[in-house]
Amino acid sequence: MTSSLKGKKIVLGVSGGIACYKAVELLRLLVKEGARVFVVMSRNAKKFVTPLTFEALSRNPVYHKVFDSADSASMEHIRAAEAADLLVVAPATAGTLGKMAHGLTDDALSTLFVAFRGPVLVAPAMNDGMYDNPAVRANIETMQSRGIGFIDPEVGSLACGVVGLGRLAEPEKILAAVRDRLARAWDLAGRQFLITAGPTREFLDPVRYISNPSSGKMGYAVAEAARDRGAQVTLISGPTPLKPPPGMRVFACKTAQEMRTLVLDHLASTEILVMTAAVGDFAPEQVQKEKIKKQGDEPIQIRLLPTPDILREVAKSKTGQFVVGFAAETENLVESAREKLLKKDLDMIVANDVSAPGIGFQSDTNQVTFLDRSGTVEQLPLLSKREIAHRLLDRIAAKLSSNPQTGS
Ligand code: PMT
Repeated sequence: MTSSLKGKKIVLGVSGGIACYKAVELLRLLVKEGARVFVVMSRNAKKFVTPLTFEALSRNPVYHKVFDSADSASMEHIRAAEAADLLVVAPATAGTLGKMAHGLTDDALSTLFVAFRGPVLVAPAMNDGMYDNPAVRANIETMQSRGIGFIDPEVGSLACGVVGLGRLAEPEKILAAVRDRLARAWDLAGRQFLITAGPTREFLDPVRYISNPSSGKMGYAVAEAARDRGAQVTLISGPTPLKPPPGMRVFACKTAQEMRTLVLDHLASTEILVMTAAVGDFAPEQVQKEKIKKQGDEPIQIRLLPTPDILREVAKSKTGQFVVGFAAETENLVESAREKLLKKDLDMIVANDVSAPGIGFQSDTNQVTFLDRSGTVEQLPLLSKREIAHRLLDRIAAKLSSNPQTGS
């Protein structure tokens, strides 16, 4: 992505480590891209680089003392910093991470972080042992669970003389993450999303089930993209090998019936429901208590009954939620998806051709068509699932803003 940062207001938070010199380079790159940058320094950062360096490069006063002379000019800049488009903390030391995770304020950087309302990116830099410490890991996870983005450190020579994981990411890499973060608007802030992902398993007996190849990748991509745009996300996941993403509530289920219960339980507090899950359409009439024994070469007959159609039940009990379904199709993609849009009373449906390799189930890429109630049909090219997730959220955000009654 090569979008310029022209006109963007960015706060660069600098904490005290040898990597401070890279913050100077990062500031230079941000300014070169047209960003207005306000630098905020922790108490220790000043031991490595003087505020004057940052002031000269940013052409803005540097916020480094909490109890400054309180002259009106510096207050104005602090207010401007608080209203910036992004706060990027680079380098973030173990101490600064700890304060950020726990909301402790004892210097300019930690104080500004607590007052800041927008998106935050953090680039840690520290000794490899510190980075591996369970307390530091827990602090990072806490912040991730609040939607804060991390730019992982790299392996390299550290200030303590060893080679290990903990060196601040290169300024160009941080710049790319800044661009990427700002390219995605914070346009779903506070919106309540309920997203389903993965397959369901319909059990014949304790060890056998009917399922499908869904990996959960599409649904997790939608959930992570919504979280990254400020939404409050609840993810209901069928069995997948994926790790629960930080920054959202995750509920695990196995069967269509369990998924139905979880969806209906959370529906009242939901504004936008996105059903990417590949819910099994049939389940054995009875689940045998014990493992079914093979009787020689005798065939066995299993009667399958339709599972509850979750989206059709949602249609009956929804109270203004914006509802998006996915349709996995192997033929007549658009016609079949349109039929489901109407039958399930959806606001939008994402038609997914699952007949070709490299798209649909399990792959990292996908090719889909968006259909909505007004008759719009938008075919997307082959894209990563993450990009499709963002394109879908772009459409949802546009619909919510053109009709403020929807989803509330
Ligand atoms: O998980 P991945 O490996 O990344 O694969 C992604 C995907 C191919 C599973 C995904 O993109 C997709 O197409 N999901 C929809 C799968 C599906 O169940 O399609 P369907 O046409 O059978 O169902 C239509 C809609 O009704 C879906 O939103 C489904 O969640 C919902 N449904 C289906 C059955 C049922 N009993 N209740 C439902 O609510």
